[in-house]
Amino acid sequence: MLNKNVEKVLLNQIEKEAYSSNFYLAMAVWAETSGFQGIADWLYAQAEEERVHMLKFIKYVNERGGKAIVPAVDQPPAGYDNVLSVFEKVLEHEIYVSELINNIVGVCIQEKDFTTNNWIQWFVTEQIEEEASVRSVCDKLKLIGDHNLYMFDRDIMAMRNPGAGASAAN
Ligand code: FEO
Repeated sequence: MLNKNVEKVLLNQIEKEAYSSNFYLAMAVWAETSGFQGIADWLYAQAEEERVHMLKFIKYVNERGGKAIVPAVDQPPAGYDNVLSVFEKVLEHEIYVSELINNIVGVCIQEKDFTTNNWIQWFVTEQIEEEASVRSVCDKLKLIGDHNLYMFDRDIMAMRNPGAGASAAN
């Protein structure tokens, strides 16, 4: 049976992953309607990964004797200034998600729920990879400036880790 405090932070994370998915979806729409199809594809793929993360939390809570709640999700911003600011927002958001995941680890340890602590380690590793991947996109964008965005847009999908998120399907 899931510890109540652990269940509470896991339910909270379902909403955070759902919001992450919609946040990246809103960015994908902005990119697609601004002529950046490659960047849009990257963001659509990222939105899918976040949905997989959300499902992983839902299924885990249910499997452990809890009951997942499908949350209401806030509307993400629709307008963005430019490509770099989009990815800086992605990075900022991923850093925030990493803090949330670390907090879940803290609650698991506090409640001596070593099973969930073991399970959540996949997300600890995933966050390290996600932060690193988005940081490298931001670094490249700063390097090229406003020029060569055409080439960047064409090549960005090749920067995705092809296996990313695949093992999360559960
Ligand atoms: Fe679900 Fe990007 O963390």
